[in-house]
Amino acid sequence: RILILDFGSQYTQLIARRVREIGVYCELWANDVDAEQIREFNPQGVILSGGPESVTSDDTPRATQVVFELGVPVLGICYGMQTMAAQFGGKVAASKHREFGYAEVSPKNHSPLLESLDDHAGLKKLDVWMSHGDKVVELPPGFDCIAETASAPIAAMANEEKRLYGLQFHPEVTHTRQGGEILKRFVREICGCDALWTPGNIIDDMVARVQEQVGDDEILLGLSGGVDSSVVAALLHKAIGDKLTCVFVDNGLLRLKEGDQVMEMFAQHMGIRVIRVDAEDLFLSKLAGVADPEQKRKIIGNAFIDVFDAESSKLNEIKWLAQGTIYPDVIESAGSKTGKAHVIKSHHNVGGLPEHMKMQLVEPLRELFKDEVRKIGVELGLPYDMVYRHPFPGPGLGVRILAEVKKEYADILREADHIFIEELHKADYYHKTSQAFAVFLPVKSVGVTGDGRRYEYVVALRAVETIDFMTARWAHLPYELLEKVSSRIINEIEGISRVTYDISSKPPATIEWE
Ligand code: XMP
Repeated sequence: RILILDFGSQYTQLIARRVREIGVYCELWANDVDAEQIREFNPQGVILSGGPESVTSDDTPRATQVVFELGVPVLGICYGMQTMAAQFGGKVAASKHREFGYAEVSPKNHSPLLESLDDHAGLKKLDVWMSHGDKVVELPPGFDCIAETASAPIAAMANEEKRLYGLQFHPEVTHTRQGGEILKRFVREICGCDALWTPGNIIDDMVARVQEQVGDDEILLGLSGGVDSSVVAALLHKAIGDKLTCVFVDNGLLRLKEGDQVMEMFAQHMGIRVIRVDAEDLFLSKLAGVADPEQKRKIIGNAFIDVFDAESSKLNEIKWLAQGTIYPDVIESAGSKTGKAHVIKSHHNVGGLPEHMKMQLVEPLRELFKDEVRKIGVELGLPYDMVYRHPFPGPGLGVRILAEVKKEYADILREADHIFIEELHKADYYHKTSQAFAVFLPVKSVGVTGDGRRYEYVVALRAVETIDFMTARWAHLPYELLEKVSSRIINEIEGISRVTYDISSKPPATIEWE
């Protein structure tokens, strides 16, 4: 296992995902975590991430000394390299030119980390992604320079004896062409980790852990139909069979026919006990008159908890509550081991159980990234289309109606969304986009049908391509496809006279409209 210490780079999560893809388990912790915790974790190697600050200033973070006392290999990336250099007696200087983007580095001095990486392509240079201001200008004693670029004569360094490595560039981003290979060499060869982190092993391990955690007890799960809770359901069903009870709350803000599909899949097909609660009226009544997005999120989150609480109190007492928390939720929610990334919106899926429910949590996916959750979903036998379905926010259509939520609006939006998704599938574009949906705009715009003018609502279509949902590019869908969707929506749905396509990228726009 590998430990990654976070110095606040936007790419830190990517490092963890790359290491997992290599088949090696890793965790991502804040850089100021306790020395004792690190010793207990007992990593076979440590990676220090990049970060936005400057080592040249005294009050910026350093790598805790313990990582250099463990006797395991350490790889510093960007800021991680700079702090390593400074801590071992080298010199880091703030540079006048920020280097940002592609660079060509030339490996030198035969390091096992970078040597003959690109030979099969006949190239001696590596295409890498740089993003830094400071750089190491003087190597610490015992270190060699193992790569250079035109503007950073020390683009990588190594102390082979102590197995300490530093890279000025970012191997974790896909723009660094051999980045995966570099990380693989570090993790597999230099640290000596075996590639045991595979879907089959993960499932066996999780099933065993759940069985050990809950023994013969029953577990209650809030099933939303989304990927995470669906995979938890399948996993728990495998682990404890009919000791699992799921509660599925239809809040009236789901996609077209979603409730029926969830019941068909889990109750009929898999034989899991699922209690369906039709709570549309309750949710809509609580949302009446509320237009503020954050308030809508809170109301929907709280209403969900109330309904869930009421439903579970009808059952015999169950000690355990399962949740589909995944690793990015853990990293992003404040108060976690890292808690560095900003919470931009209150995502209600994490935490928030009422005190009196006093149930203990089972969170089998807590250590997994989304792509890992999907892989084990497929391995557990869930249909591909369900596991690779686009993400859908917890508050559902509630945050895609840019006004007070009304049934009329939700019904119109559901139809429009369905047409868009159906056409994306038909044109084979669904899986080429990461998330696509329709948004209801409460403004009325003029249209003509036959001889009459009509004033009706507007629907915006949104489709994005993204890897991590932190940044996203609007999908360049073919005009023909957009035309088909638009004409179907306007012709088939009463109440819509205009369709627009959102061409904003994130940042500065977000993926959702509110
Ligand atoms: P934004 O809009 O922040 O969205 O660019 C990034 C991803 O997060 C989803 N999202 C939410 N998911 N509750 C959720 O469970 C929410 O309140 C929420 N808001 C945004 C969004 O769909 C996208 O996948």
